[in-house]
Amino acid sequence: MKKTQEIQTGTLTEARRAFLKKSGAFAVMSVFGVGFFTGCSDDTEPGTPSAPVGDSIQFSNGILTIDLSQASQLSNAGGWVLVTQARVLVANIGSNQFTALTSVCTHSGCDRNWSFSNNVFVCSCHNSRFNPDGSVINGPAARPLQSFPITRDGNILTIQVS
Ligand code: FES
Repeated sequence: MKKTQEIQTGTLTEARRAFLKKSGAFAVMSVFGVGFFTGCSDDTEPGTPSAPVGDSIQFSNGILTIDLSQASQLSNAGGWVLVTQARVLVANIGSNQFTALTSVCTHSGCDRNWSFSNNVFVCSCHNSRFNPDGSVINGPAARPLQSFPITRDGNILTIQVS
């Protein structure tokens, strides 16, 4: 009996190559889920009071300073800002108290998809929720957000980011 072994060779057409590329992406998406690809974004969440470094906010050598007399976003309880350059969330949590947390979510690293209301930070990448001290309310994040020490001198908040 004669055994035959068929070997096919050749080059793929552009259309075939494009099809394989797409079907491969679908196969990967079906394993990891669409959220894997769409969860994090470089865009800031609509409505996020992101604060550029400027007159009222300075960031240098790991020190973030905020002049509360000019940073109107923080003047009332519930006010907050995301300082994207420092990757820090700062919120007025009432009773003249402030909190400063890393904006890098401990779940999978989204750093600008945040909201804050009723003293709860929400990372909208996958809806982890955190207390103002950084502790996890609910996951998927399992670890707290790093909290940074704040000192206040008059209207100046100084945050040691490290
Ligand atoms: S990155 Fe997934 S919940 Fe924040």
